[in-house]
Amino acid sequence: MQPKISASLKLPSPDSDSAAHSAKVFDCVADAIDAGGGSISFAEFMRLALYAPGLGYYSAGSRKFGTAGDFVTAPEISPLFGNVLAGQSAYVLDQLGGGDILEPGAGTGALAVSMLRKLDELSSLPENYFILEVSPDLAERQAARIKVDAPEFFDRVSWLAEIPKKFAGVVIANEVIDAFPVERFLILEGDVQQSRVTVDGDNLTWTCAEAPSGLATAVRNIERELDCTFPDGYTSEISLAAQNWVSELAASITAGFVFLIDYGVTRREYYAAERSDGWLRCHFRHHAHDNPLLLPGIQDVTTWVDFTGVAEAAVAADMSVAGYVTQASFLLSGGLEGELANFDSLSISEQVELSGRIKLLTLPAEMGEHFKCMGLSRGALHAPSGLTALDKTHLL
Ligand SMILES: C[S@@+](CC[C@H](N)C(=O)[O-])C[C@H]1O[C@@H](n2cnc3c(N)ncnc32)[C@H](O)[C@@H]1O
Repeated sequence: MQPKISASLKLPSPDSDSAAHSAKVFDCVADAIDAGGGSISFAEFMRLALYAPGLGYYSAGSRKFGTAGDFVTAPEISPLFGNVLAGQSAYVLDQLGGGDILEPGAGTGALAVSMLRKLDELSSLPENYFILEVSPDLAERQAARIKVDAPEFFDRVSWLAEIPKKFAGVVIANEVIDAFPVERFLILEGDVQQSRVTVDGDNLTWTCAEAPSGLATAVRNIERELDCTFPDGYTSEISLAAQNWVSELAASITAGFVFLIDYGVTRREYYAAERSDGWLRCHFRHHAHDNPLLLPGIQDVTTWVDFTGVAEAAVAADMSVAGYVTQASFLLSGGLEGELANFDSLSISEQVELSGRIKLLTLPAEMGEHFKCMGLSRGALHAPSGLTALDKTHLL
């Protein structure tokens, strides 16, 4: 999705079905607030708004992806994205002498389709293409799409409900860790407060309370590490859930590689003084804004990723950071040009269309620089080409 903020918050009105659905999610959140004694943590709110069974943004059947939805992701923009990832994965699988692919959070299944087709072309099809998906609705849509667009590979695809105990091969997570519930904090009179959500009439609104010790310690650790003191009013987020998830994933990998692609920055950039209201981003019908309490259950709520935190979680589980590059660098060094060998044989209108899509994936003001690709490796593996040029690991 494009991390741009609308100049002013003029959101389109939801249609009546969406509005009715959002009202149900509001009631679910309000019940939780009631049960929580008047408020819930922002992380709990985000978990309900996105993942409450049958209700949350990702758990229920809303459109989400594509021009008719709320946002567009790289695999939806062009199969070129999956083709490059397939080439980079094949390079790793060759070194391993085999192995499987695991794709957490596979969205509509678009990436799986392009990966499977390209891996076949490269004679590197894995025996298993696992999809780890928390949304039953999306898992159904993924299966339907793969059956139509890549039926010959459907038998290799299976769905997992949790991270496998042991995995050897390549893991690819595109725009997954930005979707994990985050804790939000606020500095008030020098103390760390936990941002919480409460109800005010028909609206959800912010409140705060003394931070639980785990959150307060995490905030103080960031200050110590960055040698700064957050001023009063400073607000930001910590994605403890994403870091725990990366730890668990890393611990399960016996040999292989993880590609994590997402919009994100280093910890120093994440907690910069000028970024005093955090990095939350919401998407509704292609309008980006930063109010997560609106339209519960029918808008996407995400945060940018603290890639330093991701690297720390992986290193603590004994994986190595094999590279941290911009998406543009990853695609351009990872074989995008080779994917355009037949460009001249396309019609002018096809060339214009394809060029537009490549620009979306690579230009700095589009997805090229905001999005990063981090590679994590276990075992003596050579990093694939996409991670070797313009590596920014030293900045983490
Ligand atoms: C923004 S979408 C990205 C989808 C897809 N990767 C793409 O690029 O189009 C986030 C995806 O992550 C999934 N997800 C969220 N939390 C997850 C978790 N803990 N494990 C696996 N998938 C998760 C969501 O259900 C959804 O499929």
